[in-house]
This record gives sequence, structure tokens and C-alpha cells, in this order.
Amino acid sequence: MKGIVVYDTSYGNTKKIAETIAETLKESGVEVDLFYVKDVKKLSVKDYNFLVLGSPTKFGTMSFAIRFFLGKVKSEEWMNKPFAAFDTENPENLEKKEWSAAEKIATKLRDKKMNQLLPVLKALVLGQKGPLKEGEIDRTKDYARELAIKLKEEKES
Ligand SMILES: Cc1cc2nc3c(=O)[nH]c(=O)nc-3n(C[C@H](O)[C@H](O)[C@H](O)COP(=O)(O)O)c2cc1C
Repeated sequence: MKGIVVYDTSYGNTKKIAETIAETLKESGVEVDLFYVKDVKKLSVKDYNFLVLGSPTKFGTMSFAIRFFLGKVKSEEWMNKPFAAFDTENPENLEKKEWSAAEKIATKLRDKKMNQLLPVLKALVLGQKGPLKEGEIDRTKDYARELAIKLKEEKES
């Protein structure tokens, strides 16, 4: 089972979260490739069994590049495949559930009949450029370890 972690970023915070997810999955024995969204050349289910997708939250939603990428995730191919979604956002917006890139990504992937393995991860960034709030890297590692367990359960079922 091999997956792809795809992210967008302007200031590097979402990149750090994506890297932490990819590294932790690898440490947990799960194979993954990590891509900046604009570097994804082709997205083939022959190459990948699951998708982890993340975006900075801007104006309450995902970036244009992530929205464009989602257009390449064809339901016919990706139906029933596992996914997880994450974003970075400001703490003051945490309570506004619909004001989140990750929630919107997850809705779109569920609409494509993909299988959401975990609730979305919302990593907190202070201000527009960051840094990440203290403790967010550790919280991301915990999330990725849990994701690895879910992926292994999927594989066995
Ligand atoms: C134009 C703009 C709009 C933003 N809108 C939101 C928003 O609606 N909600 C929010 O929580 N954060 C918002 N932010 C803060 C971003 O979430 C933050 O810049 C982002 O997490 C940084 O990620 P990056 O370092 O990967 O680019 C906005 C930032 C910018 C620059």
C-alpha cells in the first residue's frame, strides 16, 4: 500500500505539516510520496492507493491550486480509496467549522465516494505567515500515527 501526500503552501507552514505527516507515516511503516501540489505530474491509482491532501485556509476555503488538483481526482478511479485531509488556519477560526479548507476538501472527496479514515486535522498557525502554534508538530505526529493504524486496518480488511 502506497499513498501520496499533496499540499499547497505560501509561507511554508502547511509544507511543514505535510512533511511531518509523510515522515511519520514512513516511520510507521507506510509508504508515501510527498508533493507540492504544483509538482504533481500525474495522479494514478495504479501508483497510489490513498490520498492525504492539505491546504492553507484562505477566506474560509482551500487554495485555487488545491481546488484545481481536486478536479484531477476522478471518482471512477478513486472511489472507495482511503483519504485524509488537513489544513492550516488561525486559532480564532477554529470554532467556525465551515470556515476551513480541510472540511471543504473532505466534503469534495466524500462526494467522490472516497473513504475518509479520520476527522480532518486543522493545524493552527499564528497570523498569516506563522509560525505554527506550539505543539502543532507533535499533534500532527499523533494524527499521522493514528492514520497509519487506520491504513493498516484497511489493508487487512
Ligand atoms: C489572503 C489570506 C486569507 C486568509 N484567510 C484565512 C481564513 O479565512 N481563515 C483562517 O483561519 N486563516 C486565514 N488566513 C491565514 C492562513 O490560514 C495562513 O496564512 C496559512 O495557514 C499559512 O499557511 P502557509 O504557510 O502554508 O502558506 C489567511 C491568510 C491569507 C494570506
